[in-house]
Amino acid sequence: MTWLVTGGAGYIGAHVVKAMTDAGERVVVLDDLSTGRAERLPAGVPLETGTVLDHPRVAEVLRAHAVTGVVHIAGKKQVAESIEKPLHYYRENVEGLRVLLDAAAGTGVSRFLFSSSAAVYGMPDVPLVTERTPCLPISPYGETKLAGEWLVTAAGAAHGMATASLRYFNVAGAATPELGDDGATNLVPMVFDRVEAGTPPLVFGADYPTPDGTCVRDYIHVEDIASAHVAAARRLTADRTASLVLNIGRGEGVSVAEMIGIVQRVTGDADLRPRVVARRPGDPARVVASVDRIRTELGWEARHDVRAMVASAWAARRPRQRSRA
Ligand code: WQD
Repeated sequence: MTWLVTGGAGYIGAHVVKAMTDAGERVVVLDDLSTGRAERLPAGVPLETGTVLDHPRVAEVLRAHAVTGVVHIAGKKQVAESIEKPLHYYRENVEGLRVLLDAAAGTGVSRFLFSSSAAVYGMPDVPLVTERTPCLPISPYGETKLAGEWLVTAAGAAHGMATASLRYFNVAGAATPELGDDGATNLVPMVFDRVEAGTPPLVFGADYPTPDGTCVRDYIHVEDIASAHVAAARRLTADRTASLVLNIGRGEGVSVAEMIGIVQRVTGDADLRPRVVARRPGDPARVVASVDRIRTELGWEARHDVRAMVASAWAARRPRQRSRA
């Protein structure tokens, strides 16, 4: 097999490329470098620049490298931005996927892995979200991921591709300092920003129906996300007819208050009391994965705990801090 990883120079993509090459898979990257960086790629992995929206370019890359499997990670991923620019999100995430699937089907690709998101569930009212929990996304971002899953499943069935849609829960951490997430707007990097500025971390609402009143999420180390892709790629390689939809999480809820406590202990700034501010619109109280299906289907489970995630994310930040000093 030769795998094309789209978005392979991005934060999650580069971790997937590293894990797949470490596992002995042959990998080629397609990235438009809008947020990706070529330095994230391991030596010897070819980088083709271009967008998945460019059918002739995608077909050329697939043919030039005799690609047989695709791992589609490229996409736009900011919920708030998707509300402001839905047309842009549908074009990048849905039309981009349609073009890629068309080029893949036309060049004999037989395996297709798609990055989906827990955002497909919207505001689930269950303690653990299974893959059978109804999908009712509440943002254009989540809608594009759900539409993407439908497209992948339908195209796989019609064109003889084994497929898997992987629903990532809340990703954090870094395998090495070079692979850290730049400019992310998620909880852990935002708390880092506040700690570095010497200001109290913000808690968006402490009146949720949860044990400590703050929102509960399922945080997963990006290296675990990457190892799940290796397991899924192996499964699709062995099973030409697979059509999977899988949660990737740890199956354990961690509250915002607990997460801020862990960040403060890791950074050594435990004296600043978090400041509770208004709820952020559209935040579900609790989103935690059931991980039974991925364990059964792939024999996979997460290995890294939340402290390791935060410590690795902080280690990836310090070199940049030093370089600014
Ligand atoms: C986590 C919790 C905030 C910052 C989103 C997308 C999801 C996925 C990951 C895509 C929430 C709270 C945050 C802060 C806070 N996206 N918070 N203070 O919203 O669970 O998931 O990102 O690829 O699809 O929906 O993640 O990290 O933004 O927030 O209290 O300074 O932390 O309110 O409860 P979220 P998040």
